[in-house]
Amino acid sequence: METVKFTAMKDGDKEDYDFLTHHEAEYTKGTADRLLTALVSLDESLSGYQITRLGHSLQSATRAERDGADTDWIVSTLLHDIGDIFAPYNHDEYAATILKPFVREQCVWVVEKHGDFQMIYFGEHVGADPHKRDAYKGHPYFDDCATFCERWDQASFDPAYDTLPLDHFRARVHEVFARTPYDPAVIRAGEREPLTA
Ligand SMILES: [Fe+2]
Ligand SMILES: [Fe+2]
Repeated sequence: METVKFTAMKDGDKEDYDFLTHHEAEYTKGTADRLLTALVSLDESLSGYQITRLGHSLQSATRAERDGADTDWIVSTLLHDIGDIFAPYNHDEYAATILKPFVREQCVWVVEKHGDFQMIYFGEHVGADPHKRDAYKGHPYFDDCATFCERWDQASFDPAYDTLPLDHFRARVHEVFARTPYDPAVIRAGEREPLTA
């Protein structure tokens, strides 16, 4: 069997869907490599900053690692702007969706909201509300997102910084995307790990 027999989903039988499930399992093993390739394509995106979006992603992740943050933080930080490629108007939500089955809830929330939190730094210059983050006041992860933005995201546009290369992070990305999706022991709902050691 090389393809399913059906041309409309409702006509598929057990054999067809067993076949597809096997194919899907094989395909998902390539997620980490596909994401690493996508990150490289961020190098070509038009930014206007002094460094590329890939450079920014690597620099943010480098700062996270040097702060002593754990793997969930480092990989989430590396991928936090990957949505820039296909979702320029909600790049934060896009990245959070990719990470959601594989990293701690805390990191997913921070990546999802980082666009709103970043407004504090430049909202006034682009006609946006600098205090957009105030809508989340009192949220258990509010301070984590504020720290993420201050220490790792807004600070990482410096071409002179000693940024680690993508190869340095490759094994960590593979480790994260090889996890069992939505494993409660990974998601750890409501639990917080510090951003700095
Ligand atoms: Fe961003
Ligand atoms: Fe960013």
